[in-house]
Amino acid sequence: MTDNTLLRVTDLSVNFGGLKALSGVNLELRKGEVLGLIGPNGAGKTTLFNALCGIITPDSGSLELHGRKIKWPQPHTLAKLKIARTLQGVGLFPDLTVFDNVMIGANKFATSGLMRAATGTNQRDEKALNERVQTALERVYVGGVATRRADTLAYPDTKRVSIARALVAEPEILLLDEPAGGLGPHDIEWLNGLIRNLKSTTSIIIVEHHMDVVMSVCDRIYVLNFGEIIASGTPSQVREDQAVIQAYLGSKSKARG
Ligand SMILES: Nc1ncnc2c1ncn2[C@@H]1O[C@H](COP(=O)(O)OP(=O)(O)O)[C@@H](O)[C@H]1O
Ligand SMILES: [Mg+2]
Repeated sequence: MTDNTLLRVTDLSVNFGGLKALSGVNLELRKGEVLGLIGPNGAGKTTLFNALCGIITPDSGSLELHGRKIKWPQPHTLAKLKIARTLQGVGLFPDLTVFDNVMIGANKFATSGLMRAATGTNQRDEKALNERVQTALERVYVGGVATRRADTLAYPDTKRVSIARALVAEPEILLLDEPAGGLGPHDIEWLNGLIRNLKSTTSIIIVEHHMDVVMSVCDRIYVLNFGEIIASGTPSQVREDQAVIQAYLGSKSKARG
């Protein structure tokens, strides 16, 4: 392990019935790095995020954070571990406002008096929390639509809100699952800039099919194929890797996701 290793996954395996979604995966995220995770549909990329976020329980494997072995996260321990993610797709609550969708990411839904009483949130906490939500929205340039229902937004703005919902938790580790999916060139360019800016405070793992995004923002890349890491290295190393070229050329007939 290098000194600046933030997160280390060792020998992670996840099975769904007879399907080996992940087999013996080893992965290391360093501080301040943008790590790409690529591979054909069904390779196991989202499953890896789900294991890191406690959505599924691994069959085997261990996890280290800041050089210390920890239990696999649970959804309710993520905030404390300073891990946040965006979902593949968007996953906003359509009939809640943009503001309340992001408030959920702050893990304290403190807008009603009842919830305030239930969570013990006082007025000063609530003001600070509201400011955090608004700051997260402004960071991704959707501060002006905070009071709108999520289902009234254009698709690119829903993607921005989903990123704000992750950023409001002020994560040390941010997992982005296909953030460029469905975006046009203008929004993709903006996303590239955001990711580069976030690097100073946040280490990022990004799953993405847009190779131009992956190649331009990632410091290193891991390639998954049928649940196994088949290559890792810098963007230029991975681009020239024969196993990677083969996996992608073969993926049209073998895709299973
Ligand atoms: N909850 C689940 N139950 C059963 N099979 C699953 C589940 N989640 C994912 N899979 C299967 O595991 C494999 C990996 O899926 P996934 O991690 O979503 O791939 P990727 O994100 O790389 O496209 C696929 O074959 C998928 O169908
Ligand atoms: Mg996926």
